Amino acid sequence: MKIKNICCIGAGYVGGPTMAVIAQKCPEINVTVVDINESRIAAWNDDDVNNIPIYEPGLSNIVGEARGRNLFFSTDVDAAIDQADMIFISVNTPTKTYGIGKGMAADLKFIELCARQIARVATTDKIVVEKSTLPVRTAEALRNILDNTGNGVKYQILSNPEFLAEGTAVDDLMDPDRVLIGGDIDTAEGAEAVEALVDVYAHWIDRDRILTTNVWSSELSKLTANAFLAQRVSSINSLSELCEKTGADVNEVAKAVGMDRRIGSKFLQSSVGFGGSCFQKDILNLVYIAKSYGLNEVADYWEQVIIMNDHQKRRFAANIVKTLFNTVSGKKIGILGWAFKKDTNDTRESAAIYVVDYLLNEQAEVVVYDPKVKPEQIYADLDYLNTRPEAENRASVTIVDNSHEVAEKAHAVAVLTEWDEFIELDWSKVYDDMLKPAFLFDGRRLLNRAEKEQIGFEFYAIGS
Ligand code: UDX
Ligand code: ADP
Repeated sequence: MKIKNICCIGAGYVGGPTMAVIAQKCPEINVTVVDINESRIAAWNDDDVNNIPIYEPGLSNIVGEARGRNLFFSTDVDAAIDQADMIFISVNTPTKTYGIGKGMAADLKFIELCARQIARVATTDKIVVEKSTLPVRTAEALRNILDNTGNGVKYQILSNPEFLAEGTAVDDLMDPDRVLIGGDIDTAEGAEAVEALVDVYAHWIDRDRILTTNVWSSELSKLTANAFLAQRVSSINSLSELCEKTGADVNEVAKAVGMDRRIGSKFLQSSVGFGGSCFQKDILNLVYIAKSYGLNEVADYWEQVIIMNDHQKRRFAANIVKTLFNTVSGKKIGILGWAFKKDTNDTRESAAIYVVDYLLNEQAEVVVYDPKVKPEQIYADLDYLNTRPEAENRASVTIVDNSHEVAEKAHAVAVLTEWDEFIELDWSKVYDDMLKPAFLFDGRRLLNRAEKEQIGFEFYAIGS
């Protein structure tokens, strides 16, 4: 079975880049990415490819090459579903903020809406691919809706979790460690559907890196991969606090430990805390699933990863207050970086949101600069926490478009995202512009301590 038309529902951080790369690598397949968000689709269709809604190194060029040829962005969801042989579901699955499982379980309402829309519209057989990260056994719910509300059309449901990391999405898609495809491999129709998706990826990825499993293994593997990665960050962050107390340096420890090939050196960079749309959500999901099977020890084990991460963000903020003579009330604190990591404009669960919220509770005046995040996003992130009236967030937080304004008469400056440009700042000028003593807090271990102390800063870095 050869796939000719792909539809992807959801033009976000996962759907957009993934479909752009599939379209570029498979010129004979038409790929249509649809979304209910009109302004997002308009941005994907902007004449200037630099204005696409997602910042990812290399992505604009790929969109420029494929768009209009075999890559299309549209709000006409029904038409794209109707024409497709294969439909990727790539909508958001946030943590539930209400009802059963509040604060833990994934909210599947967007997935369910997609399933019902597919069932309503489809008149020919479809392969439906779960691309969003989902709790184990979601495919079963999808199948139930499709089989019971559809027009007698046959569906095959596949799980194809995406492992790309933001900021390196294009490289990760071009050269993935593995592609995972879960399907009903014990039936002829299921195996055929899996093979059809394998063929799509085989346009540019070696077949021995394309793994096929049953659906449940695929779903659980995605949660497990993210849980393991987040656990490494929390593990090294837990030791960063011990290093600060004892005189060890967390980078030296990470290097020594990571050179053991059994452990490996990646994901041992101590930081102000992990963010992003996946780690926390997926672990909470894992915890919720474990609890729902009565596996309380399993749930508690993974929950510690989140507890440690929350602690890391809080203690970083608390250290700023403590160091500034136990009060930041009315003091100007400059924040460098708002995105959850460098090279992305995504701010979901960014540590910066929580650090700044803490500082605002202590009545600080905060000035923020991030090279890619828009001001309205920063205010929206703070408003979403609902800690204080929206007007107060606007009165206490100023957003500027360059690093140097952040430093102007500031009592302290904190680096919260590891953007390369912060390494190259004219730090002597930053120092001159600040009030003295000039406190500098490095939440990313980005800056050289000796150089900064030489300039005159009172320098604090995570884990040293
Ligand atoms: C993650 C997974 O890596 C990816 O496979 C999955 O598809 C989605 O979730 P992402 O959240 O985009 O990707 O970025 P990642 O590079 O994993 O970083 C997550 C967070 O951990 C960031 O806030 C990052 O700054 C932090 N981090 C990462 C550290 O603090 N230290 C590290 O050593 C690595
Ligand atoms: P991710 O990081 O998982 O890609 P995003 O929030 O960036 O998540 O993108 C998800 C996209 O899915 C959003 O642009 C949202 O508007 C879109 N979406 C959600 N529900 C639907 C739906 N029923 N039909 C079409 N698009 C949807």
